[in-house]
Amino acid sequence: MEPSARREAHVPTPREIYQRLDRYVIGQEAAKRAVAIAAYNHLKRIEARRFGRPSLLKKANILLIGPTGSGKTHLARNLAEILSVPFTVADATEFTEAGYYGKDVEVMVSELLYRCNHSVEEAQRGIIFIDEVDKIARRTQGARNGAGARDIGGEGVQQALLKMLEGREVYVPLNLTQAWNKNDYVQVDTTDILFICAGTFSDLQDDGDEARPIGFQRDGGRPKPRRIDVKRLIDFGMLAEFLGRLPVMVQLEGLKEADLVRILTEPPDAITREYRELLQMDDIELKFSRPALREIARYAIDRGFGARGLRAIVEHVMADVMFEAPERMQKTVVVDDEFVRRRLSANAPVIVR
Ligand SMILES: Nc1ncnc2c1ncn2[C@@H]1O[C@H](COP(=O)(O)OP(=O)(O)O)[C@@H](O)[C@H]1O
Ligand SMILES: [Mg+2]
Repeated sequence: MEPSARREAHVPTPREIYQRLDRYVIGQEAAKRAVAIAAYNHLKRIEARRFGRPSLLKKANILLIGPTGSGKTHLARNLAEILSVPFTVADATEFTEAGYYGKDVEVMVSELLYRCNHSVEEAQRGIIFIDEVDKIARRTQGARNGAGARDIGGEGVQQALLKMLEGREVYVPLNLTQAWNKNDYVQVDTTDILFICAGTFSDLQDDGDEARPIGFQRDGGRPKPRRIDVKRLIDFGMLAEFLGRLPVMVQLEGLKEADLVRILTEPPDAITREYRELLQMDDIELKFSRPALREIARYAIDRGFGARGLRAIVEHVMADVMFEAPERMQKTVVVDDEFVRRRLSANAPVIVR
């Protein structure tokens, strides 16, 4: 249901934002609701400021916590689309505190500017998604874990992000390739830029389950993610000031087989729809059996890919079909579970990007 023209002039309500998110983001009900409310408050706040009314509303920057492939980036990207604002994704591990080797955090704002043809006004209402913030945790007495560990810098990057998160005027290079040219700097106010930070915080998600017998799942088979609160995040190495600027904290759940089957089939841009359309161009009707879809979903779950692996797996399953289909005489192709198993047990591994 599209909003009428009259409606469009208004700020969409949390329910409207939720309903539009719901078409593309499967499951994650709590996250969709929380993000819809935060986005709504954000828009109201911008509006109040635009009309010169002082507002008590604090900026509702968001922290998304959830396993790989649970839809953190997907949720943020779709939110930006719904709000019709520019959107950029940054990786926290690529940044450094000022003066060190690496990108300065202001580069994120440059990238946002680039997404909207350097319209400062547009960029100032945009969304910046900062991924992997758990990798810039402060590390005391050596590294917490091996992968991506850094001895210095993490805390410094959190510090550097503080001023952008709370809203300040920053000077950013207009042209990313010529950051040395002072004349090309432009002033951007980050007050109304919505920051969505994300991380897996996998150490925190995993522990605490020791007491639960293996295989035992509460809640009809859906294990509840362990609640992560601010105190545990501080213990993990996040600065209290940093967390204080991310007042909306949302946990995403690990997606289950049934969720992945829905992701494969339901959203308007679902992967199986895409393949159906491709083959339709050759007058071939493509069908996936339910068990085939479950087989694909299980393959992704067993390897810990979450939804992230689905596209690569389907591409792998479909490779020969796509190669041969245009020459086939038959008008219907059915992908069943037997076919999926055969394809996925073949030697070539599925490469997940
Ligand atoms: N809840 C979801 N609903 C629909 N699609 C999803 C969902 N979660 C992930 N996806 C799909 O999987 C891809 C990878 O997910 P992503 O958002 O990058 O995961 P994360 O950022 O949590 O690691 C997305 O681009 C999207 O196509
Ligand atoms: Mg991501």
